Amino acid sequence: MRVEVDGRGVEVEPGATILDAATAAGSYVPTLCFDERMAPFGACRVCMVGMEGADAPVAACTTLCREDMRVTTDEATARRIAAATVELVLSELPEPPAPHTELARVADFLEIGEPRWQGERRRPSHDRRHPYLALQHELCISCGRCVRACDEIQGAFALTATGRGFGSGITAGLDSGFTNSTCVSCGACADTCPTDAITEGSLLELASAYTEEPGGGV
Ligand code: SF4
Ligand code: FES
Repeated sequence: MRVEVDGRGVEVEPGATILDAATAAGSYVPTLCFDERMAPFGACRVCMVGMEGADAPVAACTTLCREDMRVTTDEATARRIAAATVELVLSELPEPPAPHTELARVADFLEIGEPRWQGERRRPSHDRRHPYLALQHELCISCGRCVRACDEIQGAFALTATGRGFGSGITAGLDSGFTNSTCVSCGACADTCPTDAITEGSLLELASAYTEEPGGGV
């Protein structure tokens, strides 16, 4: 079917989303909870776009294309929603996101600097019990990508989203840590995490940790 994105016509297959069409048309739509390796989740509301005939912006990652649909990726209200959402996320973090992270790239694209809201920030809380994976709870934005990667890519079902609002986060196993969960150390969670809340430790780090603390810390 034919759709138009930012004035450019593209052909897409039935079942394609607006995000697929935008990508085909060469238009960038910022995303946070989306990873093309997994089913769309529609949780973050960062991928909002304008759709001709719609009363309000729609989420590009979960809205299916229709014949002759017309989409504007930089529609003003859509951009305001996306920017406010990301600004709110940033306002809870203890520090700005590391420049190489997806969150930092999205914030840059939406031109968000220091968040206007200066409320309570998450406190550092780290779990280094896993031999290869490190969890920094305070950087988690509850996008759910790690949980879905664990379930959909690896089929390990080791991670669970817990808590609500400011207290939300990720836990492995029954909060017993990665090592006592069904984790198979595939690294899919770290690979998809847009904030570095889950990272893979380098072999060098592991070696020095082992040297400093033989038999412990993992
Ligand atoms: S740990 Fe990373 S991937 Fe998992 S929910 Fe938090 S921010 Fe998203
Ligand atoms: S990327 Fe579409 S709702 Fe998160």
